[in-house]
Amino acid sequence: MRRNRRHDWSRRLTAENHLTVDDLIWPVFVIEGDNERESIASMPGVERLSVELLVEAVGEAAELGIPAIAIFPKTDPSLKTDDAAEAYNSENLVCRAVRAIKGAKIDIGVICDVALDPYSSHGQDGLVKEGYVVNDETLEALGQQALVQAEAGCDVIAPSDMMDGRIGHIREVLDRHGFEHVQILSYAAKYASAFYGPFRDAVGSAGSLGSGDKKTYQMNPANGDEALREVALDIAEGADMVMVKPGMPYLDIVYRVKETFGLPTYAYQVSGEYAMLAGAAERGWLDREMAMLESLLAFKRAGADGILTYFAVETARLLR
Ligand code: PBG
Repeated sequence: MRRNRRHDWSRRLTAENHLTVDDLIWPVFVIEGDNERESIASMPGVERLSVELLVEAVGEAAELGIPAIAIFPKTDPSLKTDDAAEAYNSENLVCRAVRAIKGAKIDIGVICDVALDPYSSHGQDGLVKEGYVVNDETLEALGQQALVQAEAGCDVIAPSDMMDGRIGHIREVLDRHGFEHVQILSYAAKYASAFYGPFRDAVGSAGSLGSGDKKTYQMNPANGDEALREVALDIAEGADMVMVKPGMPYLDIVYRVKETFGLPTYAYQVSGEYAMLAGAAERGWLDREMAMLESLLAFKRAGADGILTYFAVETARLLR
């Protein structure tokens, strides 16, 4: 076995998988203000940017060849309500950011998250009645949220809320309003994970959620077969692409989903995974670049067609 591994040229020649810039989707955080830039303590190296700085950063990402970004807002606490109505305000921060990016004629795909948590006073992804996140009432709000995002120019709607039936409902709403070309990337197998902690700091939903959790709608980390049922339903309802989330602890799910369905399958290397790698590298315990590239290559080996990663820009620069 070692003959093929002896020289660099031979190792390159026998490599089964390759990471390229086309595999990268960059999640970004947007905030209100002029020329505002904020660091996020639990995600060293990641910043929240106000709209014009975001447009600049997205322009650079496009120049590096990154195919798509995913936008997440840090909503002003004064705009958060129990019914999360800001989610479907066509002038909300996400819609303004999308219009600014599209207005700047940047050649990059724009993905918008559909879920109520950045806008709800309780930090849940859906509407809460008597302490329970209700399904069908939430679908109405999600449909309206998807619609304002599509109207703003979003290319891909990515529901991350894990309500039942949301893909079918959103597809129907989009089609009815003339947005039949807008794609749906479903967070199909999304687990109730501890690895979202830093993200909830980044969008400011951690405080709202408090000691609450999302276990009545996000998946149990114990389950694998159930992920295939989730994906099958989302495909039947009209998903164009599916996602598994988190990433590294769920590579078995990525593999099974890709093997079973063969449709475009993405993995989200989430905030907590980023924090583990970046935090260890900061202490000098890991080599940042090597750990980053190895972790991303592992997604390709598992069968992912692409990876949402906070390392996207850094990786694109290195691959160049
Ligand atoms: C919101 C949402 C979350 C993430 C993406 N969309 C957090 C959650 O479900 O609590 C997490 C992303 C990350 O951790 O990087 N529905």
